[in-house]
Amino acid sequence: MSLVTEVLTPGELLELERYELITSLVVPRPIGWLSTRSADGVPNLAPYSFFNVLSVHPMLVGVSIGQKKSGMKDSLANIRELGAFCLNIVSQELIEQMNDSSASVPPEVDEFALVGLTPVDSDRVAAPFVSECKAVLECEVTQEVGLSGYNTLVVGEVVGIRLDSSLRKERGTSIIFSEDLNPVGRMGGSGYSIVDEVCRLVRPDSR
Ligand SMILES: Cc1cc2nc3c(=O)[nH]c(=O)nc-3n(C[C@H](O)[C@H](O)[C@H](O)COP(=O)(O)O)c2cc1C
Repeated sequence: MSLVTEVLTPGELLELERYELITSLVVPRPIGWLSTRSADGVPNLAPYSFFNVLSVHPMLVGVSIGQKKSGMKDSLANIRELGAFCLNIVSQELIEQMNDSSASVPPEVDEFALVGLTPVDSDRVAAPFVSECKAVLECEVTQEVGLSGYNTLVVGEVVGIRLDSSLRKERGTSIIFSEDLNPVGRMGGSGYSIVDEVCRLVRPDSR
């Protein structure tokens, strides 16, 4: 086994090769199912796997939004209009609807209706959430960072956390049982990861 068999220089690769490599190596990625609303009131829903937690105090999350052929993705346009979004956690039973909601459709198309989900308006932020999901982070935009000509990092502060009553917590903690949430992750290409087994290890400092 050796890591010197193939040493690649990203700057020498085609854009597609770079995308395929990085997105099949940084795996599994969490999926933020991003719901927003346009100023005209049209709900929007699309999955984003360039998504993660950035800070706990304050509670910040980040989503990196690329572009579509015709320009700005609808999620970013809506976020700029209303300054808010919800991140819905995708449980396994919603995997097909999540995947279908990534269709490139015009801004006037409501992806909730397209894939048969029910948007409910958040009472904390100016965005709808997916009422069929078991957990939702309601976010206010705090920062926007242009990463390149192509990607924009949107940072949001979580001002509300919605949890379905079916989600149990580990005894004496606020840790949600992964087995209850059953989250889907993104792998390379058309691959998704599902939770078959969770292995738990005690950290050295806690032994
Ligand atoms: C699982 C999954 C993850 C995705 N992650 C991202 C991402 O992180 N960034 C991005 O720009 N597009 C991502 N996409 C593509 C968008 O979902 C797609 O471009 C969608 O049409 C954008 O919709 P919008 O214009 O309504 O925002 C992903 C697609 C899938 C299926």
